[in-house]
Amino acid sequence: MESFEENESLDQLDSAAFKFNHKLLGHPSLSMENLARVLPELPAGRVEFSKGLLNVNDDFEKTLENQTCKIKLEEIIENIRTSNSYIMVNHPDVHPSFAPIKRQLVEDVESIMRRLGIGKEAIDPRLFLFIASPNSVTPFHIDRYSNFLMQFRGSKHVSVFPQWDERAVTAKHHEAYMAYANTKLPFNDEIDALGTRFEFKPGEAIHIPFLAGHHVRNGSEDVSISMAIFFNTEQNNAWRKALRFNGIARNVLKKVGLSPAPVGQQAWRDKVKAIGWDAYTKIRELQTKNQNLFSTGLCMLATI
Ligand SMILES: [Fe+2]
Repeated sequence: MESFEENESLDQLDSAAFKFNHKLLGHPSLSMENLARVLPELPAGRVEFSKGLLNVNDDFEKTLENQTCKIKLEEIIENIRTSNSYIMVNHPDVHPSFAPIKRQLVEDVESIMRRLGIGKEAIDPRLFLFIASPNSVTPFHIDRYSNFLMQFRGSKHVSVFPQWDERAVTAKHHEAYMAYANTKLPFNDEIDALGTRFEFKPGEAIHIPFLAGHHVRNGSEDVSISMAIFFNTEQNNAWRKALRFNGIARNVLKKVGLSPAPVGQQAWRDKVKAIGWDAYTKIRELQTKNQNLFSTGLCMLATI
């Protein structure tokens, strides 16, 4: 593989978090010269900032605001050293200078997927670049993708939580998060004790499985620069749809004292629910006279 060093942990894709090494230190796409050129050229909305040190239990998705990056990268880095800020570049691969590194990463992800027999193509792969102040915290949150996070400068520690453990994130919170209905996850010391903590330095990468809660704290010695490749698989898409279906069904079923069976325990059940979600969205699109009756009937599927 061109981007990742071989490691037997890679076989645990989407079932466990693990650390390994990447080979992209010194890649020209991530040079200061290229970043200084690319950031101001990115379309509005691609660069998101948050200011001030965050707490681990903040609502991460509500702390970010879109801004066009008008200041020079050198100034950003210099400011960010002392300004307790966090910059997330969403999809830097819309810039042509990121095309080769993205292609290389997607090829590696797809070679892992083929080896595991979970599909040939990564679905909707995209890059995220993170530049953050020393000591900055990324609060406890979920990514709606599978991802590999690679460190390029500075250090951090990343705590990752078991993806289907209801003590970390309840099924109800997973469903609401996936639907963008509620992105504030409860967090306390008892939940924190369930996480696996990884120390992370330049040249290292970590896999965060689909839906696994995680939080990050940067080291105190330097600005942190990291980049992630986010992607999905057929399995992730089935989980995503099954969670959306459960979220709708939960509201309907609670009126009759029932609740949906959780996602992530039986593959066949998740597939049925994914089909249920497709049918539900189709019924709503058709706007049939009896759509509420059809939808309620469909929701009974969620109890299986
Ligand atoms: Fe994340």
